[in-house]
Amino acid sequence: MSKKESFGSKFGIIAAAAGSAIGLGNIYRFPCEAGANGGGAFFIVYLGIVLLMGLPLMVSEFVIGRRSGKNPVGAFHALVPGSKSWGIIGYMGVLCAFLILAFYCTVAGWTIDAVGKSIINYYHGLDKDTILTDFNNLMNESWQPILSEGIFVFITAFVIVKGVTKGIEKYSKILMPVLLGILIVLCVKSLTLPAAGKGIAFFLKPDFSKITGEVLISALGQAFFSLSLGMGALITYGSYISKKDNLTSTAFAVCISDTLIAVLAGIVIFPAAFTFGIKPEAGNELAFVTLPMLFNQMAGGYFFCLFFFLLLTIAALTSSISLLEVPVLYLTEQLNISRKKATVYSAIAVFILCVISSESLHDNTPLKLFGLNVFNALDAFTSKFLMTIGGLLTVVFIGWKMKKAHFMDEYTNGGKVNMGIRNIMYIIIKFLAPVAILIILITQFIK
Ligand code: PFF
Repeated sequence: MSKKESFGSKFGIIAAAAGSAIGLGNIYRFPCEAGANGGGAFFIVYLGIVLLMGLPLMVSEFVIGRRSGKNPVGAFHALVPGSKSWGIIGYMGVLCAFLILAFYCTVAGWTIDAVGKSIINYYHGLDKDTILTDFNNLMNESWQPILSEGIFVFITAFVIVKGVTKGIEKYSKILMPVLLGILIVLCVKSLTLPAAGKGIAFFLKPDFSKITGEVLISALGQAFFSLSLGMGALITYGSYISKKDNLTSTAFAVCISDTLIAVLAGIVIFPAAFTFGIKPEAGNELAFVTLPMLFNQMAGGYFFCLFFFLLLTIAALTSSISLLEVPVLYLTEQLNISRKKATVYSAIAVFILCVISSESLHDNTPLKLFGLNVFNALDAFTSKFLMTIGGLLTVVFIGWKMKKAHFMDEYTNGGKVNMGIRNIMYIIIKFLAPVAILIILITQFIK
């Protein structure tokens, strides 16, 4: 897509931003985080954060992107000419996208591995322990994960170099509703399993005594991760939004669809995990062992399994494209490197870090940072630190640095839309969102 072009239709921009948002974060990471942080307590905090911080931050990123028409680094420079310091948000975004990609591609590698196994009907008839052992073996292997990660990084880079992002978006407009359809069928199946009641109670019934600082920061990190916020990806998308589109309704549609997919994933996974004896705090295996077990119990399980993992790979791809686009656009626009070279350099760097991240999952690995293996360290550092600080600085920028008249002009499409809620949105962005993010960050640091 050339820079001056904008999305053809309202549905086009929603589909593209939702393509970035919906991915492994919803189906793999959300249940992991909810499971590790008390289920219902996490869920209720998560919903609050999406509404009070996620939505206003998404609007803010759209405003910055559309007003400037630039990549995250260029955007802040364009909106505050001469100021060097605000550009740091953009640089943090570029770094963040790069680090996220490294562990994201590790997980995408497992998804590709699951596609391969589904094709040969590998899971058929296997019990939980065998699937679990198999998954643990995959973590400990060297070459197989590297191969599948390599394939995933290559496809992501190929799509970006060939400029066929639009084509992918066109297909995902059809394919993502299919993923939604499969998730709904899986929900129905999961809800009929023996321990469905226990699983649903764990996931949806809040026990407020379980809300701790750790739960708050995890929910904040997960919300930003899942909505692709706090690192400039949606500033880039904002630069493509047409001047006629309503930014609030666009952001609202993206938040709703992203949250819907995460909730459905929780409804699928927790009843099944409780039924098959997988602990909710199990982590990586929660999705990658529970789901094959569930497919094994279903009529037509072979096809559900295959299509599900295939669509999950495509969902991961539309997210990884939006991630890789951040460093690529930075290198092309700010450093004048050709798009092809920028993509190749970025992809090679991502692949190297991705290999380190997946090798760090071996038992007894020496590859550790701050006491965590590199995979977990990258995840925690980006979601609990870089994205939250990035998000905080972005709302502070809109509330305290950008001229209010400029925000209002952009937000209301020159006085044509959102007139009724413009002041409420501004107050949330200026006061409520930054204070809430700050409180959560401080709670975490005190701990
Ligand atoms: N939101 C994506 C997911 O949930 O899988 C991951 C992601 C994409 C995070 C793009 C950040 C981003 F900029």
